[in-house]
Amino acid sequence: MSKHHTPVLLAESLDYLIGSKTGVYFDGTLGFGGHSEGILNLLDEDAKLISTDVDASAFEHSKKKFSNDSRMKIYNFNFQKIDVIAKIESVNVFDGIFADLGVSSYQIDSPSAGFTYRQDAKLDLRMDKSIVVNASDIINSYSEEDIANLIYKYGEEKNSRKIASRICEVRTHKKIETTSELSNLISEITSQRYLIKTLSRVFQALRIYVNDELDILKSFIHKAVDLLKMGGRIVILSYHSLEDRIIKDAFRFEALDCVCPKEYPVCRCEKESRVKILTRKPILPSQDEVMRNPRARSAKLRAAERI
Ligand SMILES: C[S@@+](CC[C@H](N)C(=O)[O-])C[C@H]1O[C@@H](n2cnc3c(N)ncnc32)[C@H](O)[C@@H]1O
Repeated sequence: MSKHHTPVLLAESLDYLIGSKTGVYFDGTLGFGGHSEGILNLLDEDAKLISTDVDASAFEHSKKKFSNDSRMKIYNFNFQKIDVIAKIESVNVFDGIFADLGVSSYQIDSPSAGFTYRQDAKLDLRMDKSIVVNASDIINSYSEEDIANLIYKYGEEKNSRKIASRICEVRTHKKIETTSELSNLISEITSQRYLIKTLSRVFQALRIYVNDELDILKSFIHKAVDLLKMGGRIVILSYHSLEDRIIKDAFRFEALDCVCPKEYPVCRCEKESRVKILTRKPILPSQDEVMRNPRARSAKLRAAERI
């Protein structure tokens, strides 16, 4: 099974991220170590990189891969625990904080991980296997309305009601337990032309919901800003509009120096601007990169600097 994952927007990420070659850096989405390796290649002997991944296979693989590099510390935690990790490592502030959201090519290509409609596997979609509720539990127990709302909100899928109704019809005869069972029932009610997009949206919606990805991302960004040193940078790569909107809004909020209602004649809030946004518009991969690595197609990079 190939664990190959080509890091997306690598040169651009490093350009924004690395200020000091002797600094302390955090990679919240280690995966199979593509970006972490790029970061280490630019750092001096006395620098430090702390990387984490919630996925156990990524953690095990990268622990071996980087075992000879004493600058690197690796965790199997959710990046939301950046504050806990900083405490364990006695780090007060980071020079740079990085995240490359979503799932790795390995997770997508590995049938046992159950992340894709392309392979038959248990309908699971948990990145962290200690999460109690998986995708199959949701599909088999939530109300039709809740399933429809979830598919609409997190997948932006217009046919969410029709899909939820079909799910509830099918599950009265038999529990829906595999990725193929879910894909098949969706394909029965979707035209061939839109099938791939619809399947992607439904699986994306379930993955985001099961892993609570959007709330975790929001809380990670604010904690990360707390933990950046002055002039330190946060760089995040996202792959769909819901994530990108959260990053854009969180950076904008952190950049504001007043949140008083417009009708107040003078500012009464205590809000201070904590970052300068470095990317007014997100940085996108070049055509050449997308040709070499189709997974880069939907990537957007946003960066901000602590002030
Ligand atoms: C796109 S891959 C990262 C690939 C990596 N940058 C590389 O080049 O090899 C995303 C990784 O982040 C992990 N991940 C996603 N959300 C996470 C979270 N909240 N906390 C920690 N890891 C997370 C996934 O398990 C996956 O391995």
